[in-house]
Amino acid sequence: MTRHPVPFTPQNITEALRILKAGGLVAFPTETVYGLGADAANPQAVSKIFATKGRPANHPLIVHIGHVDQLEQWAESIPDNAYQLIDSFWPGPLAIILKKQPWVSDVVTGGQDTIAIRMPGNPVALDLLTQFNGGIAAPSANRFNHISPTLASHVQSEFGDSVEMIIDGGPCQVGLESTIIDVSSNNIKMLRPGHIQQQQIEHVLHNTVNQGTTDSTRRAPGMLELHYAPETPAALCPIIILDQYIEQYINAGKKMGVLVRHAQLDSHPNLHSIIMPEDPVKFGHDMYACLRQLDELQLDLILIEQLPDEPKWVAVNDRLLKATAGNICH
Ligand code: TXA
Ligand code: MG
Repeated sequence: MTRHPVPFTPQNITEALRILKAGGLVAFPTETVYGLGADAANPQAVSKIFATKGRPANHPLIVHIGHVDQLEQWAESIPDNAYQLIDSFWPGPLAIILKKQPWVSDVVTGGQDTIAIRMPGNPVALDLLTQFNGGIAAPSANRFNHISPTLASHVQSEFGDSVEMIIDGGPCQVGLESTIIDVSSNNIKMLRPGHIQQQQIEHVLHNTVNQGTTDSTRRAPGMLELHYAPETPAALCPIIILDQYIEQYINAGKKMGVLVRHAQLDSHPNLHSIIMPEDPVKFGHDMYACLRQLDELQLDLILIEQLPDEPKWVAVNDRLLKATAGNICH
């Protein structure tokens, strides 16, 4: 049996609130990706997230709030920088790392003294959060290391009935996880690129921002963890040698998937190509759903066009590098 997503109605929100208050899990849409939510003030409920995802306990979660007023319940020593970012980008796809309040459970923060907080810019998420009137801890609603969900049906296929409710809010507007910025020390760092770009943040802060990594990448120095990844082996391929690789694999009898922006590929029963948008924002919006679509076809390999090394492609390139574990054809 799998649990079917339910529409966004007042009755379903009431039921979602009941589930959350009782310590259960509710998957809900945000503008970035679908989240798997639990009451962030209830450590037992939060630990269900880790069990359901198969996520290691030391990977901290993002706490979602519906009002800026709630920020001080969760974080302390909040610098002016944080408020400048909030004024410019909340509600929206920006998670901010701050010093945590002492009461906040280690289950949420992975034992760190900092906490990630964000106010999502999605009407369903905001309605749920304002009515819940508390923090909802929510990672992306996918099994650990798998592709993030951008449709309610993706969550359903990830978790079946192990989540008590999945609220359907249609396709996520952004489609890539939030930008993460750490302002918990004077050394401001961008830990994960996203729709909100480094230059936009630097413009607001009148300051330079350094590159950092989320802890999961720091724990594996010099290695790219397989993350946001399809189950099918995947590699990036420079466009000038793509045809050559396709020919070689097809001739070897392999079944292939290809994500490419524009190409005249010969059709072949073993070749499944998806033409992607030229624009980086639209590409990011479609990317996870397209990877998921190819991943369901039991292919031998997915080749993805290597994209320009330009600021506007940073978030897409970051996710694709992780999805392919840094595998690049040459
Ligand atoms: O767009 C998003 O942020 C989505 C939606 C559901 O809001 N959530 C999401 O959560 O992507 P998740 O758990 O898949 O990724 C959260 C990231 C992890 O890489 C985690 O290591 C990092 O945030 N993180 C959380 N708390 C942190 C902290 N205190 N210090 C450093 N990194 C932290
Ligand atoms: Mg995730």
